[in-house]
Amino acid sequence: MKKYVKGNVNWVGYIDWELKWFHGEDYSIKNGSSQNAYLIEEEKTVLIDTVWLPHRFEFVENLEKEIDLHKIDFIVANHGECDHSGSLVALMEKIPGTPIYCTANAVKSIEGQYGKQNWNFHVVKTGDSVDIGNGKQLVFVEMRMLHWPDSMATYLTGDNILFSNDAFGQHYAVEELFNDKADPCLLNKEAMKYFVNILNPFTPILIKKLEEIGKLNLPIEMIAPSHGAIWRENPMQIVNKYAEWAAAYQENQVTVVYDTMWEGTAKLAHAIAAELHKQSPETVVKVFNLAKADKNEIMTEIFKSRAIAVGSPTVSNSYLSSVAGWLEFLKQLKFKNKKAAAFGCYGWSGESVKLLQEKLREAGFTVVEENVRSQWNPAEADFTAIPALAMALLA
Ligand code: FEO
Repeated sequence: MKKYVKGNVNWVGYIDWELKWFHGEDYSIKNGSSQNAYLIEEEKTVLIDTVWLPHRFEFVENLEKEIDLHKIDFIVANHGECDHSGSLVALMEKIPGTPIYCTANAVKSIEGQYGKQNWNFHVVKTGDSVDIGNGKQLVFVEMRMLHWPDSMATYLTGDNILFSNDAFGQHYAVEELFNDKADPCLLNKEAMKYFVNILNPFTPILIKKLEEIGKLNLPIEMIAPSHGAIWRENPMQIVNKYAEWAAAYQENQVTVVYDTMWEGTAKLAHAIAAELHKQSPETVVKVFNLAKADKNEIMTEIFKSRAIAVGSPTVSNSYLSSVAGWLEFLKQLKFKNKKAAAFGCYGWSGESVKLLQEKLREAGFTVVEENVRSQWNPAEADFTAIPALAMALLA
């Protein structure tokens, strides 16, 4: 069922309350999500994006209930990833030859995924526009690497809506569609989680793009992303948040993460957390077991932190596999302006702390020399090393 957005624009997407994972099982979904598609009915009728492959038949069926598909003058494919292009094959079987406006890279990604179908692609780049009648135009803005090379945003003049695709989105189901109807805490939490886990590696590009969009002087009355709530009330709040988050963001928080074999490293983790709180009661301190907590949620906490402590016991001359996988993810996200320390227990060789320090440096953290290495179980002498580690992280 379509839902009214603004002017002659309606939402025709899919709200997925049951989704638990995204990008395979790489992104956890806690509060549902949506794939937002939009139908513009001016003198020209335009469909902006579609929905994910599993929902393609329902999407086309619903669209047919709202409009004669042959009335669609063209489709805008802002992004080729299958959560937005996944219904194209089913749709184009019904209306072959309908023009698809997208970037040159989107042609590559769409044809790469669905094969060469001889679709009627119209390649556009930043600043290109198309008249849709009633004095309104669609203006295209390439959003290269935000977050794919093919990503694009589309701006509707007159109604002043920016269809931003993935940028400014959240994996958050909002039946009422709009940010002013959503739970503000959840909205902010999910918007930040999305930024951290999907966009943070591209912050240098994002900063330039936000400047570029600013210079276009487009009045923005609404930001309609391809996931989650539409920013209707104070839409620029999310643009301002992105600018803040992209500038090596941190709060007064220190996060301790670890995994443990026989609870020794766990004891150190909690002792470090207690010492951090003792030395700086105003600092928020959080502790996560990497093997048990949600990795995407942990990354959001790391993003908010000014420093982290990472612990693992030594196993087979290295660290635990849970920590190894997490460190690789940490490196991918390219966090900036954060300190780190390492700690861990060992029985025999004891390499984990040194290796953790190396990996944290590779991930872009400023690693403090203070560390805690504890043979067998943490003893009094090990705990006496913790105040110096905490002080170095808080300095
Ligand atoms: Fe929501 Fe990059 O797809």
